[in-house]
Amino acid sequence: MRTVVVTGAAGLFGSHFSRHLLSEGYRVIGIDDLSGGYSDYLPQAPPEQFEFWPINISDRWASKALNNIFHFNDVAACFHFAAYAAEGLSPYIRHFNYTNNVLGSVNIINQCIEHDTKMIFTSSMAVYGNHFPPFNEKMGPAPIDPYGVAKYAIEMDIKIASEQHGLRYTIIRPHNVVGIYQNIWDKYRNVAGIFIRRVLAGEPMLIYGDGEQTRAFSDVKYYMKPFETLIDRCNGYTFNLGADKAYTINELADTVQRVAWKNGFEAEKKHVEGRHEAKHAHCDHTLAKDPRNLGFHDGTNLEELIDEMFKWAMKQPEREQKRMDYEIEKGIYDYWK
Ligand SMILES: NC(=O)c1ccc[n+]([C@@H]2O[C@H](COP(=O)([O-])OP(=O)(O)OC[C@H]3O[C@@H](n4cnc5c(N)ncnc54)[C@H](O)[C@@H]3O)[C@@H](O)[C@H]2O)c1
Repeated sequence: MRTVVVTGAAGLFGSHFSRHLLSEGYRVIGIDDLSGGYSDYLPQAPPEQFEFWPINISDRWASKALNNIFHFNDVAACFHFAAYAAEGLSPYIRHFNYTNNVLGSVNIINQCIEHDTKMIFTSSMAVYGNHFPPFNEKMGPAPIDPYGVAKYAIEMDIKIASEQHGLRYTIIRPHNVVGIYQNIWDKYRNVAGIFIRRVLAGEPMLIYGDGEQTRAFSDVKYYMKPFETLIDRCNGYTFNLGADKAYTINELADTVQRVAWKNGFEAEKKHVEGRHEAKHAHCDHTLAKDPRNLGFHDGTNLEELIDEMFKWAMKQPEREQKRMDYEIEKGIYDYWK
């Protein structure tokens, strides 16, 4: 039985991928500090198949605990998903963004170097910033916010570790992934989840600006097999991963509205102040689709995906909404005050 370490195991990617690995006969060691994911999102499996460590990877003491995990297990690969991915909020939580997303990742890079473990890092489409879409992997990164800078910094550090220490790695740049086990109680990220939670609470969906921004939403289930492939393949590659078809935020809101009605809920829309963000952002996936690489196929049906998520959200317990401590307040949007 091969062992795989998954950081961010209680989050969207981590909870789905841990389940996928278990169903394929792997042993999984999950790590998460439960700052953005929930313990009931973790897979239920006997301890010899799934082990969970509640570790904050950016904590200064984390390297000791992480070293034990890597030292006492023969780890085939480490999927590093843990991060706080609130791109729009990142200029107001710069210190936290870099501490959590850069220093946390550095602790994982160190372990993967030391224990000769392949590292799969989920970067983000955010590294492309305001390039003209569709973004392809040959475009030079030009992030426009601290979240994108953090992701790009780690991409560079991984490449340096590869050159100097022979670290094996694959970098994935996903975008706008949606699915059950997503955090819908965080008002700073995951637009589809935010819309659904607000509708269920009888609140209007807040559309930033004119709502004509475009994003390509994809169903998390299409990521699972390609991720598994990376355990043994595509060393040194960087891939965009996600759907080809882009929707405006207005179209997403219309979809949530239709799904809400079908499920017996009224859904209102309200336009509010625009945000500092890329207007149009989606990617080219030619490289990931190539059967010699990941053979990636995205079969997302947005309406079905939103319906699946809506029905799941209706059954979720009441949870406290996340509120971050802002490091600066200058220029913060009214809806986040
Ligand atoms: N979901 C997307 O659309 C998307 C798009 C681009 C990039 N990504 C990247 O993919 C990765 C996974 O995304 P996701 O949607 O599953 O996010 P998520 O928020 O659902 O999951 C991340 C998990 O990491 C945990 N975590 C955060 N900081 C931690 C820390 N310091 N120590 C330990 N655990 C910590 C959280 O508790 C959470 O469970 C992230 O790195 C994210 O930046 C996601």
